[in-house]
Amino acid sequence: MLLIVSALFSNPIDNSFITKFEYGAMLYENPRGVGCIKCHEKGNKPVVIAKYKEIDKKTKKLVEKKIIAPAINNVSFEVFLDKLRSDKTESKVMPTYFMTNEELKSLYYYIKNIK
Ligand code: HEC
Repeated sequence: MLLIVSALFSNPIDNSFITKFEYGAMLYENPRGVGCIKCHEKGNKPVVIAKYKEIDKKTKKLVEKKIIAPAINNVSFEVFLDKLRSDKTESKVMPTYFMTNEELKSLYYYIKNIK
């Protein structure tokens, strides 16, 4: 019994109780860190996550700036991997995640299937 239980938890993609899509959805909401859903929402369109004002160096005028979490349902696997493996030195906004290849594959599968 113990063996069966540990087998289920060690490789959730291979059991029939949870589909790859459901597993991806789970990671999207709870990826051991800030959920993708918090910034990207459904993932199918750009989301303004912050607005701030900044002095334009040339004109010396206050200009409104926005931080946008882009739509992610059409990114290539290369862009996705690159982004998910980058750290804080590369993106000032997106958190650093530590995911296994299997997790990344399931998450990507989910993202590509967002309607
Ligand atoms: C704190 C907000 C935040 C969270 C949480 C977040 N993102 Fe992002 N994401 C952004 C922002 C802002 C950008 C665009 C600017 C940049 O690249 O840093 C971005 C860019 C991306 C891109 C690149 C899109 C492109 O066209 O280049 C992908 C892919 C992506 N995010 C996927 C994810 C996934 C998957 C998760 C969860 C594991 C996640 N993000 C969590 C804010 C966030």
